[in-house]
Amino acid sequence: MQSSLPLTIDRAAGLPLHLQLAEQFRAAVLDGRLQAGHRLPSTRDLARELGVSRSVMQAAYDQLHAEGWIEGRTGAGTFVTDVVPLQPAVRRRTQHLPDADAKLLTLRPGIPYIAPTPDPGWRRAWREVSTQSPPGGYDDAAGLPALRAALADHVARVRGIACGPENVLVTNGTVHGLRLLLTVTRQPGDRIAIEDPGYLNAVVAARDHRLEIVDVPVDEDGLQVDALTEAAAVYVTPSHQYPLGGRLPVARRNELVRWARRTGSLLIEDDYDSEFRYDVAPLPALAQLDLERVVHLGTLSKTLSPALRLGWLVASEAMVDQLATFRADSGDWPGWPMQAAMLAMLRDGYLDQAVRRGRRLYADRRTHTCAVLSPYGTVVGQDAGLHITLLLPDDADDLKIAAAAREAGVVVAPLSEYRRTVPGPPGLVIGYATPSTSDLHRALTILTEILSRR
Ligand SMILES: Cc1ncc(COP(=O)(O)O)c(C=O)c1O
Repeated sequence: MQSSLPLTIDRAAGLPLHLQLAEQFRAAVLDGRLQAGHRLPSTRDLARELGVSRSVMQAAYDQLHAEGWIEGRTGAGTFVTDVVPLQPAVRRRTQHLPDADAKLLTLRPGIPYIAPTPDPGWRRAWREVSTQSPPGGYDDAAGLPALRAALADHVARVRGIACGPENVLVTNGTVHGLRLLLTVTRQPGDRIAIEDPGYLNAVVAARDHRLEIVDVPVDEDGLQVDALTEAAAVYVTPSHQYPLGGRLPVARRNELVRWARRTGSLLIEDDYDSEFRYDVAPLPALAQLDLERVVHLGTLSKTLSPALRLGWLVASEAMVDQLATFRADSGDWPGWPMQAAMLAMLRDGYLDQAVRRGRRLYADRRTHTCAVLSPYGTVVGQDAGLHITLLLPDDADDLKIAAAAREAGVVVAPLSEYRRTVPGPPGLVIGYATPSTSDLHRALTILTEILSRR
């Protein structure tokens, strides 16, 4: 039935009549069929026109009135209010939509191989979590006590850091730990030294905290400690410099810690992929030298998956307390199921097993990648981690090469994207862990075709 307003009744629609009417009324205002200031018929007249009870019509008007679509004016009646429709929100495209690259072969650095079928250790951990009820209240902001203890044992065993649960804070990964540390310990305007070339997310975190970034050069041994100038903090990747792959030798490590003790600077050790070394055993962590001066950041992103968003921060007890106090107020720490699963994976040796398996798998892929690419430049950083860097002749344009590779279906990272002010040769940062072995071979064939055309 039609009325003097653009409203109809559909008794088969399953939606209560007053809600149907309210919905149609809103749509009519938004598309301009009902204009602001239009005087509405009385509920009695409209109910008669539509063949519904007056109480239905009154309920529809009440609803619209409560939401602000109509207003009563004393002695004059009920009117449509002035509602200017909102433009639909403009959705910003994120830079790396996971799906946008789904069809490409990715040699993007830093992402481990994820087997299509989950293995028993993984399933066991989640089964165990699913059989427990969650804690009855907020849990410890530093992390589950049992997990902190397991992580302290883990970093003591595999990274040589003598520490206890009181030195460990569970995080959502390296970047989360880094940002927490910067928030709690740094003031805007503080100077932070960061390797150049270096990890972009560390640079972004420092910028977001309005720190002054000091670009420190690196060479084949990692951070050039003798180039450090005054800085309240230093971000460093001593085990496998990101992205060039140098390892900081003991003399430089000692010099760095001495420098930090002398200047009062805080050293932030990003230990992102130290588990994977192909020549010697993983090097001891920098934090092993002085937990008062070094904050150590570890992650499951390279060993299990970056999608887990889990990691750990190891520091002095006073520092951990300070960070945990901040977190207790912010509510920003990993949820109980994630932590409980991580605990099971550590306790049952699943993490160790994944590292052993990864090391075997990646060692072959790394050898193949180096062999295929070495005719086109100088391969560096191949002794550890999940990526190598191919340094190219000075006249090469790595941005163009990366763009041509993408066009041909292969994603690689140009080295110049990691550089800030310290000059150096162009290159490609190539992750060999992510694809299956056959996809890796295909991607490298495509890449070498592009490199040989240069
Ligand atoms: C140098 C470096 N640090 C840390 C990470 C991992 O960060 P997160 O633990 O936040 O995933 C990566 C990952 O690509 C990295 O390249």
